[in-house]
Amino acid sequence: MASTLGHNALLVTLLALFVKLCCATTPSPTDYAIQQAEKLVNSFNLSPKKPVNIIHDEAVKSAELVESRFTFPGLVDPPSSNASLADLGHPAGYYPIKHSYDAKMFYFFFESRASKADPLVIWLSGGPGCSSSVALFYENGPFYINNDLTLRWNDYGWDKASNILFVDQPTGTGFSYSSDKLDIRHNEAEVSNDLYDFLQAFFQDHPELANNDFYITGESYAGHYAPALASRINEANKGMEGIHINLKGLAIGNGLTNPELQYQAYIDFALDNKLISRSKHTWIIDIVPQCVEQIRRCQTEEPACRDAFSTCFEIFTGILNVAGNINYYDIRKPCEKKDDGCYDFSKVDNFLRLGTVREALGIGHIKFDSAKSCSDPVYDAMLNDWMKDCQPFVPPLLEEGIKVLIYAGEYDLFFNWLGNLKWVNAMPWSGQKGFVAANNNSYIVGGKEVGSIKSFGSLTFMKVYNAGHLVPMDQPEVSLQMIKEWMSASLVKV
Ligand SMILES: *[C@@H]1O[C@H](CO)[C@@H](O)[C@H](O)[C@H]1NC(C)=O
Ligand SMILES: *[C@@H]1O[C@H](CO)[C@@H](O)[C@H](O)[C@H]1NC(C)=O
Repeated sequence: MASTLGHNALLVTLLALFVKLCCATTPSPTDYAIQQAEKLVNSFNLSPKKPVNIIHDEAVKSAELVESRFTFPGLVDPPSSNASLADLGHPAGYYPIKHSYDAKMFYFFFESRASKADPLVIWLSGGPGCSSSVALFYENGPFYINNDLTLRWNDYGWDKASNILFVDQPTGTGFSYSSDKLDIRHNEAEVSNDLYDFLQAFFQDHPELANNDFYITGESYAGHYAPALASRINEANKGMEGIHINLKGLAIGNGLTNPELQYQAYIDFALDNKLISRSKHTWIIDIVPQCVEQIRRCQTEEPACRDAFSTCFEIFTGILNVAGNINYYDIRKPCEKKDDGCYDFSKVDNFLRLGTVREALGIGHIKFDSAKSCSDPVYDAMLNDWMKDCQPFVPPLLEEGIKVLIYAGEYDLFFNWLGNLKWVNAMPWSGQKGFVAANNNSYIVGGKEVGSIKSFGSLTFMKVYNAGHLVPMDQPEVSLQMIKEWMSASLVKV
């Protein structure tokens, strides 16, 4: 998920916003407006104490940190699941990133509960700067965390259909770290190079998995990461660089890929869902042309990217101000944890802080500056990347038969399904006409209609019903069937 808004840009945005809101009646922001702005800033958790993993420990710097096997302490094995712990390998560890000063990338790896011949999947959470552990323990990993911080099996973990990697990236996210601030990343070229280096190190260690089908998956800001990484791998494969990676597809849930179309879609989604009205909220709608113009300029002029970010976020914050206390990741729900992105994921932070867990993972001796699920400095460092259009990575992949699945929970405002459908329809490729004209079919799980789906050639779009931003959390069974059928090429039955 996204850690939402950056510090300074947000403050500027909010001040601009409150000036706008207030100025019809008063000449300057009132105390009340400032208070509200501060409340909103706090609600996005913008002042963490020690926010990024830069370590200064010589002993750790020189240590060889590699993969080790571990068993989570406190795993409760319910009788409903007959898996024996001894059957399961759970490696976790670090790979040093080759083209970096000192970056070490942390990952969990879970072998398939079904067959080692299942595809290899890499999962990327968004942010930028959110640990993939959030997805691991709340969405599609093998375990959920109980209230007493023991674990229970997730019957719909994606490890039932794949060998799956959960990676903390970019550097500074989660347990990934460096001793050198120059390893903090700013754009997709840097991010995808690091992930490529990570995968090369992984395959070096696991040559037996290099022949498995390989899929890139993720959500939210992975709408940027996944196309960039897929393209990086595809180019490397063609250039005979490194170990060949058997890339078969990429899947993105509620992603941000084409900001120009997706920021316009905020208005459509908000109107359709009656969060705002066309007659009363023209001042929000009127921001759109400037936002679009700045996003366009950002594609070639770096300084325009920050302007675009502040201007376009006014659309989002404007809608939120009108809509009241909604969870922008799931508009059916109130924003419950106001000081931390609406959802309460503190169980992950608490679990990963347990001494027993850190010992099991072999990281007990590393003193992190932070062990938070989302890092704001990593987010801030990527701000100029936010408005970059990552759609152009996709057509060359489709033309080569690499499958692309864009799916979206219908109640997410943040990177909503409408915006995703718009960019997918607008994307020029040889199958564009066929895709736009393709039938909208119902998607059925357990005899129930759980979504709508359209597909043409290698491209599939799916709208998932009764789900918000985090589809595997809201609809675990649907998400497992979706990914399983998509990987085995039988998602649309016509
Ligand atoms: C667990 O084992 C029992 C007895 O062998 C069997 O009846 C049951 O179906 C199994 N459950 C699962 C989830 O495989
Ligand atoms: C497909 O049709 C359903 C039912 O009318 C609708 O809710 C859904 O939004 C449509 N999906 C797409 C991708 O247009």
